[in-house]
Amino acid sequence: MQISWSTPSILCTVIQLLGLTFTSLAYSQNRSYPYCKAIPGSPGWPSTESWARLNSSLSGRLIAPSPPGAVCHPAQPTYDPSLCPVIAENWTTSAWQSANPVGTICNNFNNDTCLPNPNVTCSSAGYPVYVINATCAEDVKLGVDFARRHDIRLIVKGTGHDYLGRSAAPNSLSIWTHHISGLSFQDSFTPKGCKFSINGPSVTAAAGTQMLEIDYEAHLRNFTIVGGGAGTVGVGGYLTGGGHSALSSTYGLAADQVLEMEIVTPGGEILTINECQNTDLFWAMRGGGGSTFGVITSVTFKAFQSMPFIVATGALIFAPGTDVFWDIIANVLSQYPALDEQGIMTYSLVARNFTGQYGITSPVDGFLGTFMLPVLHPDNTTDSLNTTLWNLFNQATAGSSVPFTPLVIPQVYPDFWAWYSVNNGPLDAGFDQYIGSRLLDGKALTQNLTELAAAFKAATPYGGATMAYLVGGKGVMNAKPRGGSDAVGSAWRTAYVHSVVGVQWQPFDKAGEKEQTNLLNDVYIEALRELAPSTGAYVNEAYTYEPNFQETFWGTNYPRLLEIKRRVDPNDVFWCQPCVGNERWEVIGDMLCRI
Ligand SMILES: Cc1cc2nc3c(=O)[nH]c(=O)nc-3n(C[C@H](O)[C@H](O)[C@H](O)COP(=O)(O)OP(=O)(O)OC[C@H]3O[C@@H](n4cnc5c(N)ncnc54)[C@H](O)[C@@H]3O)c2cc1C
Ligand SMILES: *[C@@H]1O[C@H](CO)[C@@H](O)[C@H](O)[C@H]1NC(C)=O
Ligand SMILES: *[C@@H]1O[C@H](CO)[C@@H](O)[C@H](O)[C@H]1NC(C)=O
Ligand SMILES: *[C@@H]1O[C@H](CO)[C@@H](O)[C@H](O)[C@H]1NC(C)=O
Ligand SMILES: *[C@@H]1O[C@H](CO)[C@@H](O)[C@H](O)[C@H]1NC(C)=O
Ligand SMILES: *[C@@H]1O[C@H](CO)[C@@H](O)[C@H](O)[C@H]1NC(C)=O
Ligand SMILES: *[C@@H]1O[C@H](CO)[C@@H](O)[C@H](O)[C@H]1NC(C)=O
Ligand SMILES: *[C@@H]1O[C@H](CO)[C@@H](O)[C@H](O)[C@H]1NC(C)=O
Ligand SMILES: *[C@@H]1O[C@H](CO)[C@@H](O)[C@H](O)[C@H]1NC(C)=O
Ligand SMILES: *[C@@H]1O[C@H](CO)[C@@H](O)[C@H](O)[C@H]1NC(C)=O
Ligand SMILES: *[C@@H]1O[C@H](CO)[C@@H](O)[C@H](O)[C@H]1NC(C)=O
Ligand SMILES: *[C@@H]1O[C@H](CO)[C@@H](O)[C@H](O)[C@H]1NC(C)=O
Repeated sequence: MQISWSTPSILCTVIQLLGLTFTSLAYSQNRSYPYCKAIPGSPGWPSTESWARLNSSLSGRLIAPSPPGAVCHPAQPTYDPSLCPVIAENWTTSAWQSANPVGTICNNFNNDTCLPNPNVTCSSAGYPVYVINATCAEDVKLGVDFARRHDIRLIVKGTGHDYLGRSAAPNSLSIWTHHISGLSFQDSFTPKGCKFSINGPSVTAAAGTQMLEIDYEAHLRNFTIVGGGAGTVGVGGYLTGGGHSALSSTYGLAADQVLEMEIVTPGGEILTINECQNTDLFWAMRGGGGSTFGVITSVTFKAFQSMPFIVATGALIFAPGTDVFWDIIANVLSQYPALDEQGIMTYSLVARNFTGQYGITSPVDGFLGTFMLPVLHPDNTTDSLNTTLWNLFNQATAGSSVPFTPLVIPQVYPDFWAWYSVNNGPLDAGFDQYIGSRLLDGKALTQNLTELAAAFKAATPYGGATMAYLVGGKGVMNAKPRGGSDAVGSAWRTAYVHSVVGVQWQPFDKAGEKEQTNLLNDVYIEALRELAPSTGAYVNEAYTYEPNFQETFWGTNYPRLLEIKRRVDPNDVFWCQPCVGNERWEVIGDMLCRI
């Protein structure tokens, strides 16, 4: 049976790039920085005619974007006061940012250069100069070839959801994959060049596909996937970074499910990569990070039969400043490896002097968790989950005389979609933010509860929260990626919990930005690093300037990743921060220069 609702349309009419003349590589005239990638006005920047030829080879799919916020600014050519309030409202949604050629969920990655607010300045300085509205692998290839030949800074934007800013850059050419569309399902899959087929359901998704669409279509076929928490997350960045999910502690990370990819390499080849051909790239593209080894145009990964899901929301709420709170939290977290053993995962958070979300109207110190049991055994029921969680909370709070409100409401959903369709956020956007990550292993969670309590107390900002997602555990530890292994950071294979903390500041508040990022790196993440010194962090939800990021994100996989990067991309067509092999260049102002 081959069921499909839209044929992946990764191939487009092939239009050959004719008569492209090569200009010499870009040389900056700045003697302090003898070699930088070309920027508009520098000698190596392609001529208008050259861009026009690229555009015609792309059948007119080259965009010279104007910043979307420009409609609010009288001095801008696209000024339109009637559109300004619409854009200002859309700006705060991840769906709109992903559907915009240059939109990103965080303002700071475009350097606040054109917000939809007439009171501030607007220029296109923080945005790419050109965008290819790609619909197929050939469009992507034309962009990669052009950037390589002219040595222009190249970026790839799927949804612009990146928390590290890897899908935005000034003076760049951007390949926008949103309109590379197509999705199909199959019961059995034969990787190209393999003499066997892989039985069981799988899905083939084009690069522009987002989680909500895949989850919905899977649900219609009684399938479920290892997919991202927010419905607007895209396959490209998610799968290349690893990809955790409500289902990952059962089945492994999203990268562990991949059977095959079609990619465009830095050299401009369109390759099918899997366990039988191009195996180094297949290994690296599953966890080695986005926009580093190539551009995914399509990916095939495993799907699973749907099963009923049991979900309970548990909470412990205290008056702010309750001393015993941190000991109770440490006790709860220390039981996560045991929860994992019983097939339970959780998205939970620890909040301090917190208000304003989840119906919390006055400041609290609190623990909030969504606990899930993907039903694998007939003995798993709402009662068994309820009992487990009540035991957990009773044990953690035993001996404490402080009044608290434990809350557990277990509910059965017919399948994952029934829960996910109304719980696939956050879907907001339009803020200035950095986040940080640390993976916590069994030792960090159970060895010394005094240290665990102190670490979470130090890591949690006043008025904020530290996430503690039980998304590792046995599914990730025992995962069997095709070909024997993949490049997902080695710390994932010992971790139970991915902890995340973030900071925000107001646009243009450079002092606030500095203060908050210092707190993030030196205090919040540092407390978690000290708690779990021998683990690492999750690249897709981490701090852009994480020190020693190579080892922190990839651990023992880094040397092989670097060797592959140097081989497939000797001239650094792809460059990003913090990405494999980025050590030879640095950002200087709005330029990318050789060190
Ligand atoms: C609201 C929200 C919820 C999230 N929830 C989860 C979650 O539950 N689990 C989880 O693991 N992560 C989650 N993330 C993090 C997510 O994995 C990353 O933001 C990821 O980078 C998103 O990928 P993207 O393609 O959507 O984003 P983009 O910003 O477009 O891209 C991210 C990176 O991947 C590169 N890239 C994009 N497309 C391609 C491609 N086709 N080929 C090669 N490189 C490409 C980009 O250049 C960039 O480096 C969440 C993020 C947000 C904003
Ligand atoms: C060279 O670049 C550096 C860093 O941007 C800058 O400080 C310096 O003024 C530049 N020199 C010239 C001659 O442009
Ligand atoms: C590319 O060509 C199309 C169609 O001819 C045109 O509408 C578009 O403005 C061109 N793009 C650029 C950047 O000139
Ligand atoms: C943008 O805003 C308009 C008006 O507020 C709304 O109708 C539309 O649905 C929004 N679009 C997106 C993609 O959010
Ligand atoms: C811009 O400034 C005016 C006058 O101070 C104010 O009324 C308005 O709310 C501001 N607009 C925004 C979007 O901040
Ligand atoms: C990008 O291409 C798609 C598909 O052809 C088209 O629908 C869309 O309008 C284009 N977007 C922009 C901003 O050019
Ligand atoms: C969906 O799959 C489950 C588990 O295999 C099965 O019990 C159920 O009957 C299926 N439902 C449909 C509508 O096929
Ligand atoms: C806690 O929150 C309240 C209300 O937001 C605030 O007044 C108080 O200063 C906060 N306490 C600390 C220690 O930040
Ligand atoms: C689910 O069932 C398995 C197998 O019987 C059991 O080991 C586990 O403890 C159960 N978990 C819960 C929460 O019911
Ligand atoms: C969950 O267990 C507690 C403690 O045993 C009990 O009081 C409560 O009624 C149970 N809730 C449900 C929904 O079964
Ligand atoms: C736990 O850590 C604290 C603080 O570092 C230390 O004083 C204590 O001795 C440790 N406890 C155990 C049992 O190791
Ligand atoms: C961001 O903007 C500031 C001015 O507000 C400028 O000094 C800085 O160089 C810009 N950063 C980049 C990367 O362009």
